[in-house]
Amino acid sequence: MGSTKALIVTLFAILTLFPEAVEAYASEGILRVAQEKGKIGIECIDFRDFTRDRHRSVDDRPFGGGPGMLLRPEPIAEAVAWLEARHGAFRRIALCPAGQPFHQRRAEEYADEERILLLCGRYEGFDARLLDELAFEELSIGDYVLAGGELAALAVTEAVARLLPGVLGDERSAAEDSFGASGGELDCPHYTRPRVWRGREVPPVLLSGDHAAIERWRRTTARERTLRNRPDLAGTDAGPTSAARSTSAPTRPGSHPAAGSRPDPGSRPAAGSRPDAGSHSAAGSHSAAGSHPAAGSHPAAGSRPAAGSRFDAPPPPTPNTRDPHGTRGSH
Ligand code: ADE
Repeated sequence: MGSTKALIVTLFAILTLFPEAVEAYASEGILRVAQEKGKIGIECIDFRDFTRDRHRSVDDRPFGGGPGMLLRPEPIAEAVAWLEARHGAFRRIALCPAGQPFHQRRAEEYADEERILLLCGRYEGFDARLLDELAFEELSIGDYVLAGGELAALAVTEAVARLLPGVLGDERSAAEDSFGASGGELDCPHYTRPRVWRGREVPPVLLSGDHAAIERWRRTTARERTLRNRPDLAGTDAGPTSAARSTSAPTRPGSHPAAGSRPDPGSRPAAGSRPDAGSHSAAGSHSAAGSHPAAGSHPAAGSRPAAGSRFDAPPPPTPNTRDPHGTRGSH
């Protein structure tokens, strides 16, 4: 992350059929604060607003048969074009369970981007041509299937936002996290008051004032925790290390040390990553400082005809919006 990064507002554009749900989460906690500080902007775009038929349909049945519906490519492509005409090129990411795994290193990589577009899937997923045509990279937040990409988009947004300078109160916090700059290990355990709780004492070394000893204890317990909870992280990327399998690895009743753990090489494939067009660098050009912008920025109210009125209409210069109160503002 370059030193100029602090001057740049990172814009997250989230394409979704549920903008209110995304905005609700983005209006609280760290994402709210980051927006209020002008460190990030979050723009939620309902790609249903870019449909052209009276039913505002975004999905259709898959060719070749099969269960469920797929997202049609056209409204999404139009939403992307509209967005990029306003802001410049984005790093384009489609959330889906079949994507590459998301992890801290990828969050660090995304933190260098100025504009990140997160496309939330629904139904059975996207028409594959959309992903190819618009060079989306596919991203998964884990080996389970959600009903849509919204939670995944928010997870990515939050993981990236908290890495940006000035977002966390204490700059060390992100570096000391699990998977942080300290390496590929989990964070050590932490304790606060009371000193004794239900007969359990805070480890005396933490009260000793001996900073070198505290640091050693933290490294050791972080290592033990990694071996116990994520043996795949502890050694080679081939899975549990011999140390993890040995009796020296602490275990907890009911823990399943190796079950389900997957080696995750965490590579950063260049495929799909797009060089920034560079046209978007001015701080504040999508700044949300001062307002409560999670409700951020949607196409201006009034710039579109009422839903359903554009059947067979020419491409809209601006999207439709169901924001009659204009509360989403403009980014
Ligand atoms: N959409 C549904 N499941 C998902 C997952 N695991 N990751 C990203 N997007 C998803």
